[in-house]
Amino acid sequence: MIRGDSKDYDLLEKWTKGFDCQGYKTCEIGVREGLGSKIIMDNVVNNYIHIGVDPYGNLKYQHYDNGQAYTADYTDEMRDTLLKDLMDYREKGRFTLANMTDTEFMMHHDHQRSTYSFVHFDGPHMTKDVITEAVWFANRSAANTRFVFDDIETYRMDLVAFNLEFFGFKTMETGKNKMLLEKND
Ligand SMILES: C[S@@+](CC[C@H](N)C(=O)[O-])C[C@H]1O[C@@H](n2cnc3c(N)ncnc32)[C@H](O)[C@@H]1O
Repeated sequence: MIRGDSKDYDLLEKWTKGFDCQGYKTCEIGVREGLGSKIIMDNVVNNYIHIGVDPYGNLKYQHYDNGQAYTADYTDEMRDTLLKDLMDYREKGRFTLANMTDTEFMMHHDHQRSTYSFVHFDGPHMTKDVITEAVWFANRSAANTRFVFDDIETYRMDLVAFNLEFFGFKTMETGKNKMLLEKND
């Protein structure tokens, strides 16, 4: 069974249901067991492929702006289970795992050349990392792109949303943990 570790999965379903990806890619930064990615793939339409970005490997890193580095339980065994659980999506060419950090992903030529129409930001929760990711994807976003951010109380979401205003994104709805922004050119 694919489990999530957060709240507002009902909102993620609502925000993805019938959402037209216009043939572009969707992405989730921070996949864990895969519930966020599964909800996205099950509900969007006209999606080229969904890319999950996650290094796993039980990395020790600083999770929050004012905290120490520590190791969570994001192991390679979790990755292997995720790959098995999403086998059907992989075989149909609907899902691929970029088994790397957000930074490595953003430096990769193939990913740099792509256009994205839906992104779920749920990897690192340091404000500087979320802003870096948001600006990178905003520069590669299609018209009407949707961005969803998780755990918005744990970093300066106000600053992330402020930066995204300059790329045409507006806040559309906020839940307990998640927030939806949409690009309206
Ligand atoms: C909160 S969990 C993701 C939960 C998942 N989105 C869900 O809905 O169930 C955070 C994930 O971010 C991953 N992560 C940690 N550092 C990362 C980085 N630098 N780039 C991408 N993912 C990272 C962790 O390995 C972990 O699987």
